[in-house]
Amino acid sequence: MNVQFNFQGRHVVVFGGTTGINLGIAQAYAAAGAKVSVASRKQANVDAAGSTLGAHGFGVVADVRDDDSVTAALAACVARHGPIDVLVSGAAGNFLADVNSMSSNAFKVVVDIDLVGSFHVARRAFERLRKPGASLIFITAPQSSVPMPYQAHVCAAKAGVDQLARVLAIEWGAAGVRVNAISPGPIEGTEGMKRLAPQGDEGDKLVRDMVPLGRMGTPGDIAQLAMFLGSDAASYISGTVIACDGGAQSQLTPMITAAAHAGMMTR
Ligand code: COA
Ligand code: NAP
Repeated sequence: MNVQFNFQGRHVVVFGGTTGINLGIAQAYAAAGAKVSVASRKQANVDAAGSTLGAHGFGVVADVRDDDSVTAALAACVARHGPIDVLVSGAAGNFLADVNSMSSNAFKVVVDIDLVGSFHVARRAFERLRKPGASLIFITAPQSSVPMPYQAHVCAAKAGVDQLARVLAIEWGAAGVRVNAISPGPIEGTEGMKRLAPQGDEGDKLVRDMVPLGRMGTPGDIAQLAMFLGSDAASYISGTVIACDGGAQSQLTPMITAAAHAGMMTR
């Protein structure tokens, strides 16, 4: 059952919001009445996402690795819909590779998108947030605290995202801006699961079996938490990393390690 939220008159911006989990968040805010802007690298993704967001949807091309590109995208979003009430930073790029066969650039590209990109988005959005009362939500991952084979770049980058959230909550608290991070568990049908999880029926079963609630999550599960964190109901919540994972986090390392040793994860 979904809880109903009302974001009428609010402006929500989602970086990396054109596909998967982040698009689910954008769509949920749009359905709750918000003016929603989404940004990502590919024009085709921006166009496709924009067409699902209704009359108040807006899409803009931006690469979070490029500070100027982020600045320009934010200016376009604000020109269209006004100051930002809720900012979601969820762009990510991932692939499996063990450290011994990972080039310096392969490590760097993931850190640049996931961590440096999050810094650009937060840093450049601050002046455009409606203060006090605005909310910044990072999309992190269990890799930020749970070590996983073939994902050193992701683990390092997302650990940085968690700390960025905690530091910004302190620095921006005086301005009345709340900063939190959501850590999704395994979300079915997503690019992240396709790239990073054990595959096939056996892989799916392994993943479901590690979730105490017995199922994979949906983008809607994450969207409900994102709307709560963006709402006044969360007005005293800041500086937290909240898992939305059916209780799975503590079981991830043994599951992923066993899957890797069994050759169920393709690099
Ligand atoms: N294994 C090892 N190295 C890899 C790799 C893989 N599967 N995929 C890419 N790399 C390396 C490249 O070889 C390159 O290193 P090099 O210059 O030393 O050869 C480096 O990573 C950058 O790759 P490139 O293809 O130039 O990056 P890009 O900027 O075009 O794309 C990615 C970024 C690689 C992260 C791409 O997968 C992407 O765009 N992902 C977005 C979607 C996504 O990952 N979604 C899941 C979110 S959880
Ligand atoms: P996804 O569909 O691939 O989403 C990633 C988004 O980021 C895409 O819209 C992509 O669009 C955009 N993007 C990538 N690189 C970018 C860049 N340099 N600049 C701007 N935008 C960029 O993946 P997902 O699986 O839904 O994951 C979404 C988020 O949830 C990520 O932060 C991920 O780490 C997190 N997460 C996912 C899971 C899961 O089960 N899937 C679990 C835990 C955490 P373009 O290609 O158009 O740029």
